[in-house]
Amino acid sequence: MKEVNVLVTGAAGQIGYALLTRLASGETFGSDVKVNLNLVEVPQVVSRLEGSRMELEDCGFNTLGTVKNFSDMNEASGDVDWALLVGSIPRGITINGKKIEERADLLKINGGIFTEQGKALGENAKADAKILVVGNPANTNALIGCTHGNNESQTWMAMTALDANRAKAQVANKCNLEISDIKKMTIWGNHSPTMYPDLDNAEIKGESASGWINDQNWIESDFLRIVQQRGKAIIDARGASSATSAANAAIDTVKATLSETPADDWFSSAVLSDGSYNVPKGLIFGFPLKADANGKISIVQDLPISEYAQEKIDLTTQELLDEKNDIKDLL
Ligand code: NAD
Ligand code: LMR
Repeated sequence: MKEVNVLVTGAAGQIGYALLTRLASGETFGSDVKVNLNLVEVPQVVSRLEGSRMELEDCGFNTLGTVKNFSDMNEASGDVDWALLVGSIPRGITINGKKIEERADLLKINGGIFTEQGKALGENAKADAKILVVGNPANTNALIGCTHGNNESQTWMAMTALDANRAKAQVANKCNLEISDIKKMTIWGNHSPTMYPDLDNAEIKGESASGWINDQNWIESDFLRIVQQRGKAIIDARGASSATSAANAAIDTVKATLSETPADDWFSSAVLSDGSYNVPKGLIFGFPLKADANGKISIVQDLPISEYAQEKIDLTTQELLDEKNDIKDLL
């Protein structure tokens, strides 16, 4: 059997728990690929990973390879094909008496994690490793990791697939459609309330989604607000941030890069800007993406951007520039 080496940080957390079985079961990498898991946690809870290891073993998956537990990223990163960087603090919890409400609070707390992790992956992971940052603030954490990884042949991404799935679900509900009827969903920019889910370039049965929906008021008010604020709505309702849908989106992102993207579709993730759509080079920015048969990812070019969409894209660009400025000491 072929093998794939997958590192997961924060593996004992909520998202980690929802993620591991789906990585190991054959669903993600295929029934002919053994999945070797390197699970990473902070030293205080690394022993809990032994419980995850036992549960994975007890699932009886043919596709489960080795499961190793680490608290040292350098040791965990050796020969890794995929790194899913989930480990970080979520919003909604209280630290030193202060409730962490805003992503800006997370920037200071979580940013530092990604300097060491980026360095370890840059030095030890495979030359063509793909690294998906889930931990918030995902785009800027990925920027820190990518900078310290300093390895151009590796691909750093920050997750916006959850936002794309949320956008598709809202459209499907509104128009009484199947999710699979909705294609080419782009989330421009930051995984934050400034993200811009683009219905002009999304398609429903081959037509522009905004044209099909034909309700600009719903698009600009309800749709936008619901998608942008969905993370908070879930925290408020559940008392904890989204986990099963976040793990699902991470699986979707991995799968999207494992085979050539169908001609009538694309997928959404944040990647290092090369200046496409006038987004400043060097930001980790949500774009429409395609993968080729070798897993190489490229940004879909030449999409029309309306004046309204450009205003929204400028806003989320500015937020990412501000975040970059806030963590300039970490770069
Ligand atoms: P959680 O608190 O349940 O788990 C996080 C885990 O990370 C904990 O077990 C913690 O010990 C571990 N951790 C912390 N620092 C670490 C480090 N340096 N190395 C390894 N592990 C470390 O949180 P969760 O609900 O699993 O969420 C994890 C992150 O994902 C949060 O930042 C959350 O905001 C983010 N998130 C992102 C998206 C997205 O769409 N991008 C969606 C949902 C949640
Ligand atoms: C989400 O979108 O569900 C996560 O990023 C959690 C959050 O803090 O919003």
